Amino acid sequence: MNFFYTTSTKHLANKIKTKKGKFILKKFGDGEIYVKILEKVKNKKVWVLASTQPPADNLLELFFLLDALKREQAKINLLITYFGYARQDRIERGEAFTSKLICSWLNNFNLNKIYIIHPHSQRLKNFLDYENLIPFELFSSVIKKAEVVVAPDKGALELVKKISGKYDVPYAYMEKFRPMPEKAKILKLVNGVKNKKVILVDDMISTGGTIIAASEKLEQEGAKEISVIATHGVFAGDAIKKIKKSSIEKVYVSDSLSQKRCPTKIKVIDLLKFIEKIIKS
Ligand code: R5P
Repeated sequence: MNFFYTTSTKHLANKIKTKKGKFILKKFGDGEIYVKILEKVKNKKVWVLASTQPPADNLLELFFLLDALKREQAKINLLITYFGYARQDRIERGEAFTSKLICSWLNNFNLNKIYIIHPHSQRLKNFLDYENLIPFELFSSVIKKAEVVVAPDKGALELVKKISGKYDVPYAYMEKFRPMPEKAKILKLVNGVKNKKVILVDDMISTGGTIIAASEKLEQEGAKEISVIATHGVFAGDAIKKIKKSSIEKVYVSDSLSQKRCPTKIKVIDLLKFIEKIIKS
């Protein structure tokens, strides 16, 4: 069984021991993407590894790769390590329904199986049939040191309750409000953190607004030490700068997205074993 991958997951593909498929994925001089499968995949099970964060070429590479494999009649399992655009899963009048649209494109390929690593919310399930993989065991050694695990918003609460049960550690959660897109305000904290070592748990860090606002609230409430675990480190804009300046002790993210030049405060945890387990299943 071979696997194919888009440029956005090359950093992971390079580490994976499973045989790589033979294919060309390149750009012409004008920037157009070109894909060609160079081996027989008819009726064979293949894996495609991709992540769909901007730029849009990441999405296009995925669609073109799926199209080429489908035309060669491969049976395709898709593993999306980070589902970019998943946060556009609700609309107001006049807005494009972006995540639904991406799912409908994926549905057109009639894929054998789709796995997504820690998608933003379960709402995607309304549009796509996939298996949700949350690799929180990657962060076990960090979680084991926590005295309270905290959800910075209601979206993370279900996971935090699960972690709390599994590791037998108390949990707390916050109510978050977004006065405007990409701005986060914490309204209240439920359950105590005074003099405790706290781990904030989230699916992703994008602008860093959520974890910064949450850490400020935790500090006000007397938390002793604050660290963060998040599956995806998007680190948009000046997120890294904000984290460096904050009172957060350490931030742990996986390498679902390629991480370059991280300051010592940010620890990147390798997804390799987790991915290998899935693609060998
Ligand atoms: C909920 O909105 C999500 O689970 C994350 O909390 C959020 O996407 C993080 O984004 P940011 O870092 O921009 O606050």
